[in-house]
Amino acid sequence: MTSSRKILVTSALPYANGPIHLGHMLEYIQTDIWVRFQRAQGHQAYFIWADDTHGTPIMLHAQKRGISPEQLIAEMDAEHQRDFQDFGLSYDNFGSTHSASNQRLVELIWTRLEAANHIEKRTIKQFFDTDRGMFLPDRFIKGTCPKCKTPDQYGDSCENCGATYSPTELIDPHSAVSGTTPVMKDSEHYFFKLADFTDMLQSWISNAPLQDEVRNKLQEWFADGLQSWDISRDEPYFGFVIPGSTDKYFYVWLDAPVGYMASFADFCERQPELDFANWWEPGSDAELYHFIGKDIVYFHALFWPAILQGANFRTPTAVFAHGFLTVNGAKMSKSRGTFIMARTYLEHLHPDYLRYYFAARLGPGMGDIDLSLDDFQQRVNSDLVGKLVNIASRCSGFIHKLNDGRLADELPEMEMYQAYLRQQPAIAAAFEQRNFQSAMRQIMALADQANQYLAEHQPWKLAKQENQQAAAVAICTQGINLFRILITWLAPVIPLTAAQAGRFLNCSLDNWQALEQPLLAHALEPFRPLLKRIEPSQVEAVINASAESLNSDQQSNEESPDQVGEPTITIDDFKKVELRVARIVDASHVDGADKLLQLTLDIGNQQRNVFAGIKSHYEPQQLIGRLTVMVANLQPRKMRFGLSEGMVLAAGGDQGGPYLLCPDSGAQPGDRVT
Ligand code: MSP
Ligand code: ZN
Repeated sequence: MTSSRKILVTSALPYANGPIHLGHMLEYIQTDIWVRFQRAQGHQAYFIWADDTHGTPIMLHAQKRGISPEQLIAEMDAEHQRDFQDFGLSYDNFGSTHSASNQRLVELIWTRLEAANHIEKRTIKQFFDTDRGMFLPDRFIKGTCPKCKTPDQYGDSCENCGATYSPTELIDPHSAVSGTTPVMKDSEHYFFKLADFTDMLQSWISNAPLQDEVRNKLQEWFADGLQSWDISRDEPYFGFVIPGSTDKYFYVWLDAPVGYMASFADFCERQPELDFANWWEPGSDAELYHFIGKDIVYFHALFWPAILQGANFRTPTAVFAHGFLTVNGAKMSKSRGTFIMARTYLEHLHPDYLRYYFAARLGPGMGDIDLSLDDFQQRVNSDLVGKLVNIASRCSGFIHKLNDGRLADELPEMEMYQAYLRQQPAIAAAFEQRNFQSAMRQIMALADQANQYLAEHQPWKLAKQENQQAAAVAICTQGINLFRILITWLAPVIPLTAAQAGRFLNCSLDNWQALEQPLLAHALEPFRPLLKRIEPSQVEAVINASAESLNSDQQSNEESPDQVGEPTITIDDFKKVELRVARIVDASHVDGADKLLQLTLDIGNQQRNVFAGIKSHYEPQQLIGRLTVMVANLQPRKMRFGLSEGMVLAAGGDQGGPYLLCPDSGAQPGDRVT
């Protein structure tokens, strides 16, 4: 028996800004398998995480819905946890970064960093949206790429040519929140002096058991030089106020990883035998691992260890980064129906199918993982149903029928049982190294052997012969014992199926050591089918439902606004809008309306009455006789002043307007605008 380790494991905290999708689930299932595996070795392993609740997108999302951020995050917390429970995640605590414990720890860390002189103040220039009265994060500014001139790119990078730049370099920058042109404004920010930790980080990187890919990435960043990290944001912001200020907040990425600690602190409150300090102070004998996606390595492998060190806490033992999930070989796509939400999946398919498939695809590296839906069905049906469950279903009936549900007193092939157990260290090592695909391959090869054994000995034939029934029971006892080994090893991967199998086997499957003793002279419970085959119609239903939710809220990344993620339209969509040249034949003020003018528009074969919000800029008299452009097929709208039968087009920004659009000379009333 190896000595028991103390292991604290986290997954990256999902943003409380949208639903959980299968990309998230790749990480959370990977983490859960690893933690369950550690527990099954007899280690003291905890899975701790939380919702990531702060920042600009959550604030704006709540505003848009007309609720408080607190309401939004409470809703999301319930929704996220329901998904996680239903996927069988065995986390010990799910907290929130918007909690008293997190605020206390963030403030403590801040105070220690400041006292140790790791914080500096600097005035920076940043884009400010005067319409909304807020500074704009890079992702909330859009404009034309300075390099390749592609319009409508984010403030930090171009999706067309891949260039990265600062928002000030954008051509024609505008706010994604209000659409107006932002102005440059000064603001004092707080910076964490990352370079103070250069030596410490170098030695952490050399000594921690990191993946080569992660280590290489880090060396690249080192070569570029470590820049101070801007950890403050101006109001309005949803987050924690920085002590000693009234209008400065901690940047969400500062308090988010502290959420790992806070969630563990909350857990300790409920578990009196656990001592927070024991796990988080320097010199702790506990291991600390963060499972993360490859997109957030910088935060976890540079900032986070430095912050912990600077605030006199222990540093992580390692971070484990995984790649991104693709579906059918491509990025998850809403229009193809492959942007699959966790809930949509759960409505049609058993969680263990996906857990097994991810395990069969996950290695220790950072490569992307593909969920190929055909391969998914085929692999699950052949491995789980065809190989694994088949062993139990072939053997259980005879044990009940011929021996009253009791296993035989001894194994006919003890050596075969021992040979299985001799594979255990290699399988355990594969799990430990997060090489789940290797573990699954080894386990399924042994499942093949068990099926071969049954095919050779044909207990179903022996059962029919009066004097061979004891032999049939012995063979099925062998089969059930091999099944018990396999399902015990697979329990971290397919825990719901394993729980059912444990009820049938009438024994617990959560400790690998227990396998040393075979199950003999032991009463089984009646067998009920453990897993059904996946039907193609179930997968189709997931795709259809995902395509239908096309317009539902998209998970938006930190500091990227929902508005920016709006889907593009096709040329056919655009053709639905009937634009026509119109002559303004009459224009007048509207009694009681501050902004509207009433226009009579001639579009060749008919006249339209339209109320237009252009009074601030035009006198009715100057409009009469002019040409403009109107939307001619807009559904008529009943207004307080009468029926409006269309819309005229005007331009405007914060420099002024609205300016009516006019066609060049030559255009005639009624001409189609294409
Ligand atoms: N809130 C931050 C993490 C803070 S940790 C202190 C965040 N949230 S997230 O919701 O965008 O992502 C949560 C985790 O899910 C990240 O590790 C991210 O890499 C992972 N994934 C999100 N989409 C994914 C895929 N499509 N595929 C695989 N993992 C993905 O980042
Ligand atoms: Zn570009």
